[in-house]
Amino acid sequence: MPAVTLQIEWNITMSDTSNPLKVGIAGLGTVGVGVIKILRDHADLLSQRVGRSIEVCAVSARSKGRDRGVDLTGFTWCDDATELASIGEVDIVVELIGGSDGPALALARETLKTGKSFITANKALIAVHGKELATLAEENNASLRFEAAVAGGIPILKSLAEGLAGNDVSGLYGILNGTCNYILTRMEREGLAFADVLADAQRLGYAEADPTFDIDGIDTAHKTAILAAIAFGMAPDMDSMPIEGIRNIAPVDIDYAQELGYRIKLLGLARRTADGVETRVIPAMVPLSASLANVMDATNAVVVDGDFSGPTVYVGAGAGEGPTASSVVADIIDVARGNVYPAFGVPAASLQNLPALPADKHSGTYYIRLRVNDQPGVMADITAALARESVSIESLIQRGTAPDEGVYIVMTTHQTVESSALSILKHFTALECVLETPTLIRIETF
Ligand SMILES: NC(=O)c1ccc[n+]([C@@H]2O[C@H](COP(=O)([O-])OP(=O)(O)OC[C@H]3O[C@@H](n4cnc5c(N)ncnc54)[C@H](OP(=O)(O)O)[C@@H]3O)[C@@H](O)[C@H]2O)c1
Repeated sequence: MPAVTLQIEWNITMSDTSNPLKVGIAGLGTVGVGVIKILRDHADLLSQRVGRSIEVCAVSARSKGRDRGVDLTGFTWCDDATELASIGEVDIVVELIGGSDGPALALARETLKTGKSFITANKALIAVHGKELATLAEENNASLRFEAAVAGGIPILKSLAEGLAGNDVSGLYGILNGTCNYILTRMEREGLAFADVLADAQRLGYAEADPTFDIDGIDTAHKTAILAAIAFGMAPDMDSMPIEGIRNIAPVDIDYAQELGYRIKLLGLARRTADGVETRVIPAMVPLSASLANVMDATNAVVVDGDFSGPTVYVGAGAGEGPTASSVVADIIDVARGNVYPAFGVPAASLQNLPALPADKHSGTYYIRLRVNDQPGVMADITAALARESVSIESLIQRGTAPDEGVYIVMTTHQTVESSALSILKHFTALECVLETPTLIRIETF
C-alpha cells in the first residue's frame, strides 16, 4: 500500500508591525489595568508569538480622570462602553467590567453582532448568557473567549477544550473561589470564627465589601456551570444547581473534620452519568490525603477525570491582577493567531440539554453534629431517629463542652441517599434534647 503523507505548510512570517491587532478594553480596574501592563511590558514577545503587534487603541471605564497607574494617552476614551464595538479600528473587544447583565451584556451583544471577537473574564455573564452569546458569535463568524472567567490564571478551559479534547470527561471538581479558601484556611490555622476572618479578609482586600457572591457559593456556581458546559458539551445551567456557601461553617466543625481525617473546602462539582448531569456547590469534608485538601489560602485547583487521560490536576492563582490578566491575554493571542473554535468546544446548536439529576437522589456520606442536653435517654432518641430513616452510622464521637452548654454528638454516616440525610436532620431538630439546629456537612471522597 502506498504511504500516505500528510503535508503541512508552515506559514512562517516575521512579525508584521505595520498591521497591528487593535484591542478595545472596557473596564480599567484590577484586571483591565493588568491586561494593559502585559500588552505594554511584553509587546515584543507577543509580537513575535503572534506575528503582528497587539495594541490597545480604545478604552472605557466610569471615571475618566482616575489615575490608574498606567498611561492611557493615545487611547480613544468611550464614556459608553458599547461604543467600543462600533469603533472601526477595534478588532477585538475585551470586557472587564463584570455583572451578568447591564453594560457587559450590552457590549457583548453589540461586539459579536458586528462580527468582532469578544473576550471576557466575566463568569456571571457567561454562566447566564453563554449559549446566546456563543450562538451570536458563530452566526457572525466571531470568536467568544473567557479563559479568565474560571480559576483566574489557571488555563483550565483551554485544557478542557484542547488538551483533553480526546477524552470523554465523566466529572470534575475543584476549589474555585480564592476568598472562601482563604477564609477556611485561616479559620483552621488560627482557630477563628467565620465572621472574624471575613472582616479581616475584607480589611486586607481578600474579600469584597459585599462578599455575598463569594461566601454564598454563587461565584463558584458560575464557574462550575462553565466548566460543566465545556466538559459535557451542554449549555451552562445555573437553574438546576444546588448552591451552598460557607457562612455556617463553625470552628468546631473544622476541628472535628481534622480529627476524622478531613479538611473542609468549598467545592464546585460536576458529574455526568448515563441518566444526566449533577452539578453542585457545597462545603465538603475531603480526605486529608486528597490533592484538594492541601490547596490552601487563595489558591484554586481543579481535578478533571478523563476516560483516557485519567485524573489531571490544575493548581494556581485563581484571581489577582497578574494571573487573571495572563488568561485574558492568552485569549487575545489565540484570536490573533486564528486559533478559533466554538466557545464551549462544540457548535452552539449542538450543545445538549442534558437532564439534571435530582439533588435529593444523590448518594453520599455525611457528617452530622448535634449539641444536646447531657441527660439519660438522648442516645436512644438519636438512634431511633436514625432507624426510622434507615441511616447507618460509620463513626460516632460524644464529647462534653462547658457544663451548661450540653455535649456535642458527632457522627458520620455510611452511604446514604441525600433525602434520608436531610430527613434525619429534621427528626434531630425536633428532639427535645437537641439544643441548636444540627449541622450537616457532606463528605466527598471522589
Ligand atoms: N479581580 C480578579 O482577580 C478577577 C479574577 C477573575 C475574574 N475577574 C472578573 O474580571 C472582571 C473585572 O474584574 P475587576 O476585579 O477588574 O473589577 P474592578 O476592579 O471592580 O473594575 C471594574 C471596572 O469596570 C469599570 N466599569 C464599571 N461600570 C462600567 C460601565 N458601565 N462602563 C464602563 N466601565 C465600567 C470600572 O470603572 P471605574 O474604574 O471608573 O470605576 C472599573 O474600571 C469581572 O467580571 C470579574 O468577575 C476578576
